This record gives sequence, structure tokens and C-alpha cells, in this order.
Amino acid sequence: MANKINTEDYVLLTGRSNPQLARDIASLLKQEVHEPISMFSDGEIRVRIPVSLRNKHVFIIQPTAPKVNASIMELILMIDAAKRSSASEISAIIPYYAYARQDRKEQPRVPISSSVVANMIVNSGADQILTIEIHSQQQQGFVQVPWDNLYGSYALVPLLKSQKIKDLVVASPDKGGLIQATGYAKLLGADGVALVYKERDVAVNDKSETSAMIGNVKGKNVLLVDDVISTGGTIVNAAVFLKSQGAKSIRLAIVHGMFTGDAVEKIKHPSIDEIYITDSIAQRDEIKNNKKIKIATIAPLIAKAIDHIQKGESISRDLILR
Ligand code: R5P
Repeated sequence: MANKINTEDYVLLTGRSNPQLARDIASLLKQEVHEPISMFSDGEIRVRIPVSLRNKHVFIIQPTAPKVNASIMELILMIDAAKRSSASEISAIIPYYAYARQDRKEQPRVPISSSVVANMIVNSGADQILTIEIHSQQQQGFVQVPWDNLYGSYALVPLLKSQKIKDLVVASPDKGGLIQATGYAKLLGADGVALVYKERDVAVNDKSETSAMIGNVKGKNVLLVDDVISTGGTIVNAAVFLKSQGAKSIRLAIVHGMFTGDAVEKIKHPSIDEIYITDSIAQRDEIKNNKKIKIATIAPLIAKAIDHIQKGESISRDLILR
């Protein structure tokens, strides 16, 4: 793969959100990744890129993971620096895209924050965006540049297949995740799909309740799939509910492991047997060393995507597992 790339023609940059992922991607591409961020004493971010970008395609790898606002700021400053350095093309590679869950006007007098962020990225000079498992795909329409979205299943499905789980039912903790659950069920040859009904309190941040389901999980090994775990409320409530409905075991497959608030405490719940996440977000040691959690890398997926983009080849052909 990497041997055929003309490494003279492109440059990799990363911020401080997940430099290890960027290094892993760079190593697969046999490229160097530049880390141009430092700080001024007052907390302002400073970007200084050490190599010429003139007429080069610049790939900026930066999940906008916590601290999300700082990560976004680093990303748009790197894009601006690349633009003003006469890069021929700038691709924003955003393995976790923050604000994606604020993708619609769900009540009066609220912003569509995801659209605001996407427009900041494009207005700073990005020519294209690549995300992994964005919360909802219609966000690609927020801006007038190409926006490709790949799936975490590319990394998670091989790991899940290796577990050879019998009597498998794939479940979604809310109706928004049904297509994702159906995709996993197809790829893993599951016996069926189940859907848990989640009700969110729009007046209170991060609060939801689970009260009903569609499907049958009695005596089944359940794989609960979701795009992101934040406080853990959604997925743990769903796991507890499915267990009460007779599920034999419960595994979680979640692409973006954010683990905010008391999520680490919540996932200790005995209803949950194993948790599979990706390395889209840099993890602290308590997550890396947690015996329930297994982390699959998305570095090969992103390295291949960069390779295909750079060569002008289709990325949907081999990189979309669904
Ligand atoms: C919501 O629709 C998302 O797909 C996740 O289920 C949710 O945002 C996860 O957040 P938390 O872990 O805080 O419940």
C-alpha cells in the first residue's frame, strides 16, 4: 500500500487530541507526522508547521475529543495555517467528531451546533472532511465540500468475529441506532436484531430512561452497539433492561469511548460482560487497563483512506463494511 505513494506530495499533521493514533497511521503509511501545536502562557494555542506545505496535500488528523472545544480550536488553526502556507488541498481527518449529537433543532431557541462546527472547519479552509461513525449521516449536508464517513465496524467486526459468539442478537439502545445494529447483525450473522426504547429528557443534559423494547433476547447473547459512550447512561440502562428481559450475556460494541462523568463506575454493572471500543479517542490508563474493555485500532482504516484519497481512488469500495 504505502510503497506506491509519492510521499513528496503530501504531509500529515496532528494536534494534541490523539497523537498516538496519528503516529500509528503515519507509521502504516511510512510517513512522518508533524505535531505543530504548543501553548502560550495565557492558554492561547500556537501552531508552527516545520516543513513547507506549498502545493502539497495536507491531511490533518484530529479527533475533536475532550477537551472538545480545545481540540476544535487546534484543528481549525492548523487548517488555517495550512491554507496560508499554500497547501494544494486540505483534508480534515476527524476520527471522532464532537457536537455531532446536536445535529437538529430539537426544541425552540437552540443552535444546530454540529452545523456551526462543520462550517468553521470549512470556512478555515478544509477542502474535504473524513469522519468515522458520525452520529447521523445527514450532517454531511451541512457544508458544501465532500464529507466521507467510514464505520468503526471495519475494526470492531473482525475482533467480534474472533469471539465466535453463538445465539447472537444485536441490539440498539435507541431508535437512531437501528441501521447500525442491522449492519452489525448482517456482518456477524446474528439470529436477530432488538431495539430498546429510550426516552430522553430534553430539559436535562445527559439524562435518559429505558422502558420498553422490540425483539426477543431471552436466552441470547446480546451485542449492544452504539456510536458513542459518554456518561454511559444510555448503554448501561439498555444493558440492565435487556438483562431483565432474559438476555444470557451482554457485550457492548461502541466506536467512540468517551467515558465522561461516572461512566467508568457505571460500566462495572454486572449486566455488562465485555466492552469493545476503538482508539478513535485517546484513552487514559484506567480505560486501557480495564479488564472488561478491549480496544480495536482504526489506524489501518484511516491509513487506507488517506492512501486512497491521495491516489484519487474510491474509498467506499473496500473501506465501507455494512
Ligand atoms: C445518542 O443518541 C447516542 O447515540 C448515544 O447513545 C448517547 O449520546 C451516549 O451518551 P451517554 O453515554 O451519555 O448516554
